[in-house]
Amino acid sequence: MAIPLIRSADASAALVGDAVHVWCIPVAEQADDDAALTDAVNAWLTPVEQARGQRFVQPEDRRRFQLGRAATRRLLAGYLGLSPTAIGLDIDPSGKPRLDQHTRALGGTMHFNISHSGGWVVAAFARGFELGVDVERVSAQALEPGLIDHVLSEREIQALRALPPQRQTAAFFKGWTSKEAFAKGIGVGLAVGLKSVEVSIDPEAPARLMQAPPPHASDPWQLHTIEGLEGYAATLAVAARSAHLGRIVVGNWRDIPGDDQ
Ligand SMILES: CC(C)(COP(=O)(O)OP(=O)(O)OC[C@H]1O[C@@H](n2cnc3c(N)ncnc32)[C@H](O)[C@@H]1OP(=O)(O)O)[C@@H](O)C(=O)NCCC(=O)NCCS
Repeated sequence: MAIPLIRSADASAALVGDAVHVWCIPVAEQADDDAALTDAVNAWLTPVEQARGQRFVQPEDRRRFQLGRAATRRLLAGYLGLSPTAIGLDIDPSGKPRLDQHTRALGGTMHFNISHSGGWVVAAFARGFELGVDVERVSAQALEPGLIDHVLSEREIQALRALPPQRQTAAFFKGWTSKEAFAKGIGVGLAVGLKSVEVSIDPEAPARLMQAPPPHASDPWQLHTIEGLEGYAATLAVAARSAHLGRIVVGNWRDIPGDDQ
């Protein structure tokens, strides 16, 4: 199922029940306001995150990381009624950030996940269940046999080859982002072995998880295509049979809502 677009003002209302908000935030690849962005987002980041941001060699990698974390903190702060720097994050051994116990005690449970690629940061939030998100820039050049073999199962490779050549790139990236969104949802990341996760790769069909490796085979994971990011494939995975989904596209990083408290 595709995710309906909602207004930023409507999303700022409390995130309750089975609601999921997916925020799409553009990152300028050639930022002409780098200093302004760095100053603004650093105010929302912890010293550890600021230091990590400074270690990126490529400015665009730094911008994506800083904006991803800053936007996530700011949006979490809005949902939880806390200040962005009061949001305590624990990082799983596999790398997945989560709210720490102290923050959960103050603001309640909130699941979230971040992805960034090229000109986009995508961040998803839900109170009631785990989720994972993945965005990738679509590139026909990236579609090499070695990568296809690393990501897709034998059955999926056959399905890919059966598609008209002009649909194969979209099919591959739909499969890749579906698998990564699920892998990030369960928190394991690429260690899951992407070939062990089987998904629908037909670009015309709804995103669907066909087979998950143990112990997740009967978990209630559902996949949803995140549309509207021209030139990108993006998928959301939620651990819920049904959810109330909303997608918010921000025009500029300055439009990320939330008041510092
Ligand atoms: C998570 C992973 C699939 C990300 O793939 P990617 O397409 O390169 O990157 P994305 O932009 O989609 O996602 C990056 C974000 O996912 C989140 N993330 C990291 N590890 C994660 C995990 N295991 N599960 C869910 N989310 C994770 C982080 O928020 C990260 O953003 P950050 O840079 O702000 O911290 C991949 O890096 C991975 O498998 N990592 C885990 C293995 C690992 O490196 N472990 C080291 C222990 S720290």
